[in-house]
Amino acid sequence: MRKPIIAANWKMNIGPREAEDFINSFIGQPGKLDSITSQVDVVIAPPFVSIPAAVAALNSSSAVSIAAQNMSDQDSGAYTGEVSSMMLKELYVRYVILGHSERRTLYGETDAIINAKIKKACASNLKPIFCIGETLEEREGGKLESVLRTQITDGLVGVEEKDLKEIVIAYEPVWAIGTGVVASVDQAQEAHAFVRSVVADLYNQEAADKIRIQYGGSMKASNAAELLAQPDIDGGLVGGASLESQSFLDLIKAAVSAG
Ligand code: 13P
Repeated sequence: MRKPIIAANWKMNIGPREAEDFINSFIGQPGKLDSITSQVDVVIAPPFVSIPAAVAALNSSSAVSIAAQNMSDQDSGAYTGEVSSMMLKELYVRYVILGHSERRTLYGETDAIINAKIKKACASNLKPIFCIGETLEEREGGKLESVLRTQITDGLVGVEEKDLKEIVIAYEPVWAIGTGVVASVDQAQEAHAFVRSVVADLYNQEAADKIRIQYGGSMKASNAAELLAQPDIDGGLVGGASLESQSFLDLIKAAVSAG
């Protein structure tokens, strides 16, 4: 039985002050969040500079885990603008989003770079949220499966099975990100089942049965329950609908109702 995981990806939104307000109103819902987080893992990924404020506002509450949206594959040194895994660990970060399509397309991250980051995260005891997904052109060109297989295979080169257990895969069709167009339940389930089959090919069926696969792309409270009711959809990576605490909470409640 896989515990669902809902993660907020704030992208380049919500500075430190706003992050504090968000967390206060989010965890300030008396009793509610505790009963929810026993059923769903809740993660929030603020921009780097908002992480300390979010952690402070959480005040040791374990209701929410904090993620980073990216990190370096290097430990330290002359890498201007980069942030290391150890720096994130020092801030009590537990997850790190790697290979988001915006990193791939806007910042040129390749499968090899993402692979190096995944290995560094695992070695640092950070849990990667490893993003994959096809463009509309690739899907319409009949390349869905080959694109996903390459991203998964190349992203996981040299990743041992013991580390795979710490990884969450996020399937985010690029055409559904920030567009309001959500993949149909059948399209999403089919892609998730395929992703799981690739993990089974690379490792084994047991490892594939255990790995959690999130859906990302215009997920919101009104469509979350039917997506999460699918057998291979184990959570969501949420952009727009995570930027306001009530809408994110409503989405999490919908996730609980689907379980
Ligand atoms: P939206 O939910 O805004 O479509 O963003 C999805 C996403 O990219 C999450 O990482």
